[in-house]
Amino acid sequence: MMPFHYRHQELYCEEVALSHIVERCGTPLYVYSLTGILENYRCIDGAFAGQPHRICYALKANANPELLRRLASLGAGADVVSGGELRQALQVGFPAEKIVFAGVGKTDEEIRLALQHRILALNVESREELHVIASIAERMQVQAPIAVRINPDIDIEGHPYLTTGKSANKFGISLAEARDAYLWAAACKSLRLVGVHCHIGSMIKKAEPYRRMAETLAAFVADMKDQGIALEHIDLGGGIGVDYSQVLAEHGSPFYIDPVELAQELQPVLQATGCELIFEPGRSLVGPNGVLLTTVLYTKQTAGKKFIVVDAGMNDLIRPSLYGAHHEILPLQQKTAVVETADVVGPICESGDFLAKERLLPIMKRGDRLAVMTAGAYGYVLSSQYNLRPRAAEVMVQDDGWQVVRERESL
Ligand SMILES: Cc1ncc(COP(=O)(O)O)c(C=O)c1O
Repeated sequence: MMPFHYRHQELYCEEVALSHIVERCGTPLYVYSLTGILENYRCIDGAFAGQPHRICYALKANANPELLRRLASLGAGADVVSGGELRQALQVGFPAEKIVFAGVGKTDEEIRLALQHRILALNVESREELHVIASIAERMQVQAPIAVRINPDIDIEGHPYLTTGKSANKFGISLAEARDAYLWAAACKSLRLVGVHCHIGSMIKKAEPYRRMAETLAAFVADMKDQGIALEHIDLGGGIGVDYSQVLAEHGSPFYIDPVELAQELQPVLQATGCELIFEPGRSLVGPNGVLLTTVLYTKQTAGKKFIVVDAGMNDLIRPSLYGAHHEILPLQQKTAVVETADVVGPICESGDFLAKERLLPIMKRGDRLAVMTAGAYGYVLSSQYNLRPRAAEVMVQDDGWQVVRERESL
């Protein structure tokens, strides 16, 4: 389901005209479709119904507390990468036994927090981290549940910043090193080996890298079994890519990979292992179900270039500046056919502060509103107060109702 559509020339989220929300809340403003998010969760969860599995939503994509509460109440687990995310996940109601904790730089305090709460697994990213966890657990007189993150050197052929499973990346450890690590950990009384983890990147566009990753981990699980180490789960991380040009209801599914087809491809490999599958989607649940709304402040023409200056900048949505990411930009009120090519830029004092470049848009004037589409993931969570700008508010829509789920920061 895609929740955004035009009705009588007005852009809607589900049954609510976005201009109606903007009149009350102002801009910059994030708006999310709860129905769309829950539907994407159910779609991925349902696709793997034939296999014991757990969907651990990756909080890093969007950690709005109300959104998290709704996902937790559907039975989702959580994938966290910091003490802050762990606390947030626990606070909104994710049961500790459904929380996995990854990240290359866990502090001693974060490790203690995870052990105190008895989470499902610490996804360990280096040999040294494994040793530190073992000694902290020993001092706490507990057994730390461990899954080592394997770096399988698989290329997702995506943006270098979104690639995490190549040997040149800082994440995880190689297969050979993992083997030694498991054999060492198996003899360590303060560690309990519960699974194996992998996350090869974000914005994955094909099922093939997932299949290779699953085969690699399945072979590793079999190898460990031969060594007398029985692992309970295989965690394949997140990463399903979404098409940032498919933004309206009539465009159909935004997923690059159909979850049902992915599940069909992975199930034979995974079933043979007898392990539970853990999947950590982030972007695919929330990305297409959020927009960033902004107001045109000024338009200006320089030698050879038209600029539309809006009130949302790279501090609100950094993806275009950071990754050169493409976000469709749509007017809240559809205009007549006259169009022009313009850069949509924010108010931040950086030439890298842009939301779109060389974009064909209807002619805009001061006060017009625009929607930056597919902004539900890695949007608000990556926002900052750069230039001492207060962060935007967040609104959640469900059917014909809506509520502010995070107030706008004030000066
Ligand atoms: C360990 C881990 N799991 C899950 C995710 C979520 O990825 P995505 O939002 O692409 O689904 C990430 C994102 O980078 C991650 O690092």
